Amino acid sequence: MPDSIAEVIAPSQAQAAAERQGILRPWPDSAEARALLALYRSAGLGHRLELNLRLRICPFETVAERVPPEGHILDLGCGYGLLSHLLALRSPARQVLGLDISAERVATSQAAGRGRANVAFAQGDVTLVAFGRPDCIVMNDLLHHIPHTHQVALLAKCYQALPEDGILIIKDVDKRVLWKYIWNYAHDFLKNRNLPFYCLDSPILTALLGLVGFQVEVTHLDTGYPYPHVLYHCSKAARG
Ligand SMILES: C[S@@+](CC[C@H](N)C(=O)[O-])C[C@H]1O[C@@H](n2cnc3c(N)ncnc32)[C@H](O)[C@@H]1O
Repeated sequence: MPDSIAEVIAPSQAQAAAERQGILRPWPDSAEARALLALYRSAGLGHRLELNLRLRICPFETVAERVPPEGHILDLGCGYGLLSHLLALRSPARQVLGLDISAERVATSQAAGRGRANVAFAQGDVTLVAFGRPDCIVMNDLLHHIPHTHQVALLAKCYQALPEDGILIIKDVDKRVLWKYIWNYAHDFLKNRNLPFYCLDSPILTALLGLVGFQVEVTHLDTGYPYPHVLYHCSKAARG
């Protein structure tokens, strides 16, 4: 039996502190994350293991929290559709379109979304296809695969496509914590060798977003991860 109230509450305080530090990451083991991964039950074991790992190394749930609960959401470079599906599962009032250059990734995303009305996927190069009029655009680990010569044009294209109250959510990686940058570079070299790697320093990307016209709020999300995650919440309208 614990002797005092302090002993009773101490473990939960320690757990809360650990979660704040990102040492414990309960979300990838949550019912929501299991429901998300269950969509991929027809994918091969290798794919499912990869997607499970992806949920553990990238803060999908934090990115998803920044996306409005309703409206047209465009997920650029959606990969296997994890974020698109999470956004669609969380709110039926969202209409999510995932776009990726890889036919194989789009096919896997579509197979996982079969029968669900508020999510769709299309193949295309984000630097070439028209974006329509989404209420929110997200890019999760896309920008560092776009050549520097195309990055500003892509950000400007997002700005043009969004309505006055639209938002752009970018989750990308930074160069500032050197060992995390090197780890990320090695990861991409092994995993995404077919894709170019054009990482920007967060102050440079923030300045570029400002030049394009966005109001930017930057949040570093790398605590507890070996990857230098940074989130950019970009609004067209000045925030009140
Ligand atoms: C690191 S993966 C991120 C995938 C997904 N957003 C996620 O977080 O799991 C980068 C993705 O961007 C896609 N991509 C790279 N260049 C692209 C382009 N020009 N147009 C569309 N997709 C592109 C790749 O095919 C890949 O699926």
